[in-house]
This record gives sequence, C-alpha cells and structure tokens, in this order.
Amino acid sequence: MMLTMKAVRIHAYGGPEVLHYEDVSMPKLKPDDLLIRIRAAAVNPVDWKIREGYLQDALRHQLPLVLGWDVSGEVVEVGPEAAGFRAGDEVYLRPDIERDGGYAEYIAVKASEVARKPAALDHIHAAAVPLAALTAWQSLVDAAQLQAGQTVLIHAAAGGVGSLAVQLAKARGARVIATASAANTGLVAELGADQFIDYTKFRFEDAVHEVDVVLDTIGGDTQERSWKVLKPGGILVSVVSPPSKETAAERGVRRAFVFIHADGEQLRAITRLIDEGKIKPIIHSVLPLAEARQAHAISQGGHARGKIVLHVAD
Ligand SMILES: NC(=O)c1ccc[n+]([C@@H]2O[C@H](COP(=O)([O-])OP(=O)(O)OC[C@H]3O[C@@H](n4cnc5c(N)ncnc54)[C@H](OP(=O)(O)O)[C@@H]3O)[C@@H](O)[C@H]2O)c1
Repeated sequence: MMLTMKAVRIHAYGGPEVLHYEDVSMPKLKPDDLLIRIRAAAVNPVDWKIREGYLQDALRHQLPLVLGWDVSGEVVEVGPEAAGFRAGDEVYLRPDIERDGGYAEYIAVKASEVARKPAALDHIHAAAVPLAALTAWQSLVDAAQLQAGQTVLIHAAAGGVGSLAVQLAKARGARVIATASAANTGLVAELGADQFIDYTKFRFEDAVHEVDVVLDTIGGDTQERSWKVLKPGGILVSVVSPPSKETAAERGVRRAFVFIHADGEQLRAITRLIDEGKIKPIIHSVLPLAEARQAHAISQGGHARGKIVLHVAD
C-alpha cells in the first residue's frame, strides 16, 4: 500500500505561488467513503478564490489543503459502509468542498457524491462536467424551475458554467439568450443559443426584455442591470452574490442565490443528458497537475472558453 501521493496544496493563502506540487499522505477513508484514483481534475474559479482566502470564514478549511473540486477517475477501494460502487468503476464527481480536493493522485469521497462516468467522455472531458453542470442544474432546474417555452438570459455563456447552462436550458425546451464577447459567437451558437449579445459592444438590457429567468455568473453591475430584463414574476438567479431582496420586492420579481452542493443523484441525471448527446463539456486547455499555477493564472484571467483541466494520470 502506498503511503504518499503527489498533490498540489496550499500551506497559506495568497497568489499562485502558494500552490505547491509535493508529496502528501494518502487520504484516509471514512466508512462510507470511496477511494478514487484521479485521472483528471478540473479547475474552477472557486479554487483560486479559496487559494486567495476569500472564503476562509465560510469554509473554515484546515491548512495545508489540497485544492480542486471536480474529479474523474476510478474507484480503487470501497469503505465498509459505502454502497453502490466496486473497485474498477469509472466515476466522476464534485466532492465535498469542506474536505481535501482533487489536485491529487487520490481522493477520499462520500459514495453519495459519486456517479458513473458518462460512457461517451474520456476522463479529461468528464472532469470538466460535475461542478459546472451541477451549478447549472441547481440554478435552472432547482431554483428557477425552468420550463419548456420560457426564455432565459445566460451571462458568460462561453464560460464553464454558462456553456453547460445554455445546453441544459435548451435540453429543457427553453429559449436561450446568451452573452459573451464576439470571439465566442460561433461557440455559443453551436451550444444552441437562440440569440447572442456581444457584451463588449452592446448593453444587454437594451436588447432583452420580458425574460422569465436570468442566470447571473458575473455579479456587480451585470447583476444590477439584469433586474430590468425580467418579466413580472420572473427570477434572477445568481451564483456569484445574493441579489437584493428589497429590489426583487420593489420590482415584483423573485431572486435566488445558489451555492452548489455535491449531489450524485443530480449528476446521474446529467450523465443521462450527456449520453443522449444533449450536453457536452467545452475544454479550454489541458495542463499537467504540476502546472496548477499556470492553470490558476488562466482561470483568474476571466476569459477561459469552457474548462481548464489538469491531467493527473493516464
Ligand atoms: N455559487 C456557486 O455554487 C458557483 C458555482 C460555480 C461557479 N460560480 C461562480 O460563477 C462565476 C463563473 O464561473 P465559471 O466557471 O463559469 O467562470 P469562467 O469559466 O472562468 O468564466 C469565463 C467566461 O466569462 C466570460 N465573461 C467574462 N466577463 C463577462 C461579462 N461581463 N459578460 C459576459 N461574459 C463574460 C468570458 O467570456 P469572454 O471571453 O467572451 O469575455 C469567459 O468565457 C465565477 O465567479 C464562479 O466562482 C459559483
């Protein structure tokens, strides 16, 4: 049995230089855990937000901490109380963000967070799915209860969350209006968006009116300007910052803030959409695990087209 593995950890909060590729102890399994051998791990903005210390009060992590909460790999050990999986199963998941993450060769995770990897995807593409797809699901399906025939405005449609949200909304029969910069027009059309707005040239609120749902992945001024495009009774769902309760009441609309939770059951529903060819992840770049600093720099630049993925093992 191996005693150590390679992982990327932080020992202190700060810039990309606090990421260290190093030898660490193997994860310890709880009775309802699976031990996963990781093949690929995606990078998400929450990783560098945690690295910089923005979420220390909310999450109370112990340092050193392995970052990264988007994983695809293979089950190698099954805890005595972990049901539903066997050694050798190929799986993917968004693990519990309060535990060590997936910039590592192995991770211990609760079996209830895990789903079988879609057959159509390799591990690089599978790792790009869970966090962004669950965020899109929990925003559009759980919070907004998006229905066929409704119209949804999706901000940052070329990003990790947005690119999957566009496809999920289309799969549910909605009409999709998407914002991105001109370079991403083709991508967003290919994902199925019905209307494209280049946010660098146009103010979306001049072109869009009476939508049922806005998915805010930007916050700030974009969130503020989003209120006026909603129809009465519509809903503004943000994954960045809680929209104002008072503004929602004044305007006769609803609002929700979503912070993603791990959910193996929802991931199985997402797997079905992938297997039916209705959803596919978009990959911006693939880097070796040891180059997590570079991956963070790209993510933090704010213009990734789809997901950045760390390759861990073949
Ligand atoms: N609450 C939660 O549970 C949760 C879960 C997941 C993500 N999030 C948050 O949601 C945000 C988005 O995450 P992500 O993974 O989708 O990020 P991402 O992949 O890094 O987003 C990059 C995309 O944003 C686009 N973009 C940048 N500024 C824009 C603007 N003003 N209008 C429209 N598009 C713009 C870029 O398109 P161009 O290159 O065309 O500009 C790029 O494609 C992050 O803040 C993340 O932390 C929250």
